[in-house]
Amino acid sequence: MLSVNLAGVTLKNPVMTASGTYGFGREYNEFYDLGELGAINVKGLTLQPRLGNVPPRIAETPLGILNSVGLQNPGVDKFIEEEIPFLRQFDTKIIANISGSTMEDYLAITQKMDSADVDLLELNISCPNVKAGGMAFGTCPATVESLVSAVRKETKKPLIVKLSPNVTDITEIARAAEAGGADILSLINTLLGMRIDIRTRRPILHNNMGGMSGPAVFPIAVRMVYQVSRAVNLPIIGMGGISTWRDAVEMMMAGANAIAVGTALFRDPMAPIQVRDGIEEFCREQGVSNVSEIVGTVRPY
Ligand SMILES: Cc1cc2nc3c(=O)[nH]c(=O)nc-3n(C[C@H](O)[C@H](O)[C@H](O)COP(=O)(O)O)c2cc1C
Repeated sequence: MLSVNLAGVTLKNPVMTASGTYGFGREYNEFYDLGELGAINVKGLTLQPRLGNVPPRIAETPLGILNSVGLQNPGVDKFIEEEIPFLRQFDTKIIANISGSTMEDYLAITQKMDSADVDLLELNISCPNVKAGGMAFGTCPATVESLVSAVRKETKKPLIVKLSPNVTDITEIARAAEAGGADILSLINTLLGMRIDIRTRRPILHNNMGGMSGPAVFPIAVRMVYQVSRAVNLPIIGMGGISTWRDAVEMMMAGANAIAVGTALFRDPMAPIQVRDGIEEFCREQGVSNVSEIVGTVRPY
């Protein structure tokens, strides 16, 4: 009833974790068998280890958070050596989220991951492009198409391209990723935000700005998934503020073939399990034999 197919990869259910909110799964394994999830998406990986940005790196907002973690991770080699064998103990799919600050970085990390034992690669294109003065790769359609097509040539693994919402028209970027050879799109990454401490007149985040996530961004994510699903012919992983099974069903009706739970995990590590159980119950109640039947079924006016 819950199994879904994403570009030839079968997930036992459409629920996965959002990159950067689940580490490498170790902490959550204390709560439940990680094999309960359709897939686990790991913390964003870079070629070299990164300590991330200077703290404070998290700021609370009503119904969400801002983060400027800055891709803290042990580097791709350590991930391959230590984390993949851990994750492989569980009956779930592994998604490796990869980042770079130059085209060469992206190509090198893709080559490494192509021979690693992961099921799907997710290209995070929200990273600042150091050669283009720090503008994010994912904000310019031509850059997205050339990055995706260059990465595409380096791997036979199914390629997810993760879209940034910090653009005027996300469908242009989605089409560019499709033209470059993406197999799947995922969205949304975080929305750029800022908070200020009014006593010190200093930004709360040491990085000044950060990415907004959590329930407050949910309607924006639903809108973008809806628009993108009508603009391209690719499966979509929908995320951004999902905290209940109702949110997940809504996101799927907007056009997502699978969904990811991120910030909600910080309040409730069991959130993805409850989301999965609720989707199953809803399908039963609605007489749906496979969850894919609800994808894109919103009836717009
Ligand atoms: C603390 C934190 C770290 C994140 N790190 C990454 C990352 O490394 N790579 C990435 O593609 N997205 C990263 N994200 C974005 C999430 O994967 C997700 O796209 C976003 O938070 C929206 O979903 P949510 O509202 O359910 O958290 C991060 C989000 C948070 C809150």
